Amino acid sequence: MRKNIKRIAVLTSGGDAPGMNAALEGLVTECQQNKIQVIGFYDGYQGLLENRKLILNPKEICRIANIGGSILGSMRSKDFETKKGRTLAKKVLEQNKIDVLVVIGGDGTMRGANDLSKLGVRVVGIPATIDNDLFGTDDTLGYKTAANVIVESLENLRNTADSCKATYLVYTMGRRSGFLALRGAISGRADSVLVPEKKISEQDLIAKVNKTFKSGARSHLIVISEAYFDKNEKKLQALLKLLDKKTLSSKVRLQDIGYLQRGSNPIEHDIYLGLTLGTGILKPLLDGKSNFMLGVSQNSFCFTPLADTDSKMVNPYDLILARRLNLL
Ligand code: F6P
Repeated sequence: MRKNIKRIAVLTSGGDAPGMNAALEGLVTECQQNKIQVIGFYDGYQGLLENRKLILNPKEICRIANIGGSILGSMRSKDFETKKGRTLAKKVLEQNKIDVLVVIGGDGTMRGANDLSKLGVRVVGIPATIDNDLFGTDDTLGYKTAANVIVESLENLRNTADSCKATYLVYTMGRRSGFLALRGAISGRADSVLVPEKKISEQDLIAKVNKTFKSGARSHLIVISEAYFDKNEKKLQALLKLLDKKTLSSKVRLQDIGYLQRGSNPIEHDIYLGLTLGTGILKPLLDGKSNFMLGVSQNSFCFTPLADTDSKMVNPYDLILARRLNLL
């Protein structure tokens, strides 16, 4: 049965991700064709609680798809995590006569959406996080762009490391999973990768670095996911010191590329994916579907209940490939 929808609200939440703006542009464009008004709330769930909003006018929203970040702002909200906060969110949506809320973000965003749906709010999600750790889609928005930044960074770092016989530890984002680090390390042709899914002993890592230099190569690039030490700065510094002391590198340095990954303009893959998901989400809504996250798998849309989107394991093939390439 075709649902009558007059007003849709949208917000971007959590860490921003390249491709969020493409999803916004896609949604607004598709809604315009169907004479549906789109209201954007600023700064994720926090802006919703504070009723900070604007009408997303198709004329202003066109051509934002290629810009990184989110024009609405994207943040986490502690207030929304409480029952009181979510009840207020429902009230604000009712006051604004919103028929459906579309949330664009990662795991915390989908959890929040699921909690809101339990209060009877019609809510759906579009996956956007550079971490790619959501179940129900091959790629989340921003993941491939962020992996691409790792590749470009490794290419640059290789030039300088080769010149000065260095070992560089390239520190990447990915809060719970090694997805991003693994993919970037493979395509950027790193020498080693440290991900939580496959730990390596310090002794083995030292031996591996030394083998590189003994073979006559002039650099060793190690990609390390922030999830490897669970964001523990002390452990990271201790590893740096150890490598400096025990390896044949002339110097060992840390390069944190976290926010550079997130802040990049989207590559074509994420622009296309954002436009696809943003335009594609309206039809299932008009068809009466609700409380799902829209993903893409093997070139087809897939619908996952919001409650089931949490935590995707790394692609086992990436681990096999990394092993074949002697990264692990
Ligand atoms: O979840 C996306 C993400 O970019 C993670 O990779 C990272 O751990 C986290 O956000 C960083 O968040 P913040 O902006 O709060 O430092």
